[in-house]
Amino acid sequence: MANIVLVGAQWGDEGKGKVIDYLTDEVDVVVRSQGGNNAGHTVVVDEKKYILRLIPSGILRKGKLCVIGNGVVIDPIALWEEISELAAHDVKINSKNLLISECAHLVFPFHRMIDEQREVSKGAQKIGTTRRGIGPAYGDKIARVGIRLGELLQPELFKEKLQARVKEANLVLRGFGQKPIIFKALLNQYLEVGEKIRPLITNTVLTVHRAMIAGKEILFEGAQGTFLDVDHGTYPYVTSSNTTAGGACTGSGVPPHRIGRVVGAMKAYTTRVGEGPFPTQDAVVAELMHSMGREYGSVTGRARRCGWFDSVATRYAQILNGIDELAVTNLDGLDSLPRLKVCVAYKLEGKKIEVPPTCVQQLAKCVPIYAEAAGWQKSTSDARSYEELPPNAREYLRLICDLTGAKLKLVGVGQSRAQTILV
Ligand code: IMP
Ligand code: MG
Repeated sequence: MANIVLVGAQWGDEGKGKVIDYLTDEVDVVVRSQGGNNAGHTVVVDEKKYILRLIPSGILRKGKLCVIGNGVVIDPIALWEEISELAAHDVKINSKNLLISECAHLVFPFHRMIDEQREVSKGAQKIGTTRRGIGPAYGDKIARVGIRLGELLQPELFKEKLQARVKEANLVLRGFGQKPIIFKALLNQYLEVGEKIRPLITNTVLTVHRAMIAGKEILFEGAQGTFLDVDHGTYPYVTSSNTTAGGACTGSGVPPHRIGRVVGAMKAYTTRVGEGPFPTQDAVVAELMHSMGREYGSVTGRARRCGWFDSVATRYAQILNGIDELAVTNLDGLDSLPRLKVCVAYKLEGKKIEVPPTCVQQLAKCVPIYAEAAGWQKSTSDARSYEELPPNAREYLRLICDLTGAKLKLVGVGQSRAQTILV
């Protein structure tokens, strides 16, 4: 039995959607354990493109059970939209293929408004959030004033809790010079959507536990990436959940010894959306990706910042997550380059360092030390086996995986399900 945790080894958008879709083939249950609809997982099946935000990407494989765990924050309106979009593409959602934890916290419109107002008031210091209310929703959870999905199903209790919550949120919104939330309209809107998703809500700790007892295998699909982890990432330029492997346990109620292996997804280069230091950011890589129409955010449409592969970051990600195997995605993005750079260390105030400093102000001062690699200048998008890849591309993969410190398991050479090479 080998339950798998999949994590992003960089700043998110490592192409996890595609890797999840691939790994789902090997498992029975797919679990999301953190984040919210700030995530955007793109999966292309038979030329059809699906963007999943809250629902595990496993939903696209028939016969798999998907679970949204207690660690996820859920905007039920966005969830219903996603369910409806999938239904329009013939992916029908019911309690046979999707179950949601009654302990997951709700995201409300006032969370989104506060998220936005905090960003605006920070000016140049802004985090560059997705403005989906993720930070304020997790803030309420930790401050013990959050409201959970299970409570949404108890109208009297929900009304009482929401009333208190709206009262306080309106004080905050007034402080920002914003209009107050109208309680009654919000209450009705949420109770209504609550009824629609009621059949899906349960104690998913037991669902997953029973599946494990029955010998079923589980994939924990991470959202965002290691350096967006609220504890281990480039704080405060992070998201508000634990995106590293440990989050899979706390966010689902699965004990640590049940985790068999950890797969890390990483791009063959590096990208980041939002603000915060990014040592290997590079205009040449950004120009190349954007000119090909790549690297625009799937949730917000923002152009992602791009740069060279940073092994200082991925090596630390290997340590933090215990990554056993690597899935390298977007190799084809580099096909046209004659030469490539790979960051092997940083220089900080005259000293060479091999792990990233934990303080962002110091990270912002780090200058990458690069090794050069020869390009392959040949399309890789039609390669279907490792041997079919150009020798220099294989050499590059070996280099970045060795520097990261884990085995190569999978290579992505394009968006579609078929453009995946198992090593
Ligand atoms: P938030 O999660 O909306 O609060 O945003 C906080 C930071 O995390 C911002 O820099 C976002 O761009 C980034 N972020 C959140 N979700 C994702 C994701 O799925 N991919 C990449 N970056 C993300
Ligand atoms: Mg994404």
